[in-house]
Amino acid sequence: MQTTLIILKPDCVQRSLMGKVIARFEQKGLQIVGGKFMLVPDAVAKQHYAEHAEKPFFGDLIAFITSSPVLVLAIRGDEAVAVCRKLIGATNGIKAEPGTMRGDFGISGQLNLVHGSDSPESAQRELALWFGEGEIVDWQRTNQQWFTA
Ligand code: RTP
Ligand code: MG
Repeated sequence: MQTTLIILKPDCVQRSLMGKVIARFEQKGLQIVGGKFMLVPDAVAKQHYAEHAEKPFFGDLIAFITSSPVLVLAIRGDEAVAVCRKLIGATNGIKAEPGTMRGDFGISGQLNLVHGSDSPESAQRELALWFGEGEIVDWQRTNQQWFTA
């Protein structure tokens, strides 16, 4: 089992796509184990995207992710990091495959709706950044045996 960090970005929230996006993760068989709706503090945004600090788009990226509320989720399942990245699709909505969230819902490089951790190491770092002690809930689905074998 892996847990990954998902962010429903400002464009997803503003376009009232939160329900559709959450449904796609749930329909795949993934389990939501944490969630918070928030305006992202500037410092958290900069830590989250630290790997891009030297890139020319960094300023725009921080301005975007702090511009309007986001929904931050912790999502769990077998290979959850890779499974979520596949469901979300390629970075730019123009190039993302139909069937993926970015491929179906967007045509922008920045307004790409959903963030997902890009590796188990990133997931660990990001979960620790966004969630405090006790905020990720280790709950059991009563029908868990029907999701994976
Ligand atoms: P994210 O981290 O937001 O989930 O997106 P990602 O893994 O698909 O893409 P990443 O390479 O981590 O880039 C983070 C965000 O920076 C913007 N970006 N712009 N102009 C560009 O070449 C460029 N490259 C990346 C995007 O908004 C991307 O979501
Ligand atoms: Mg990324």
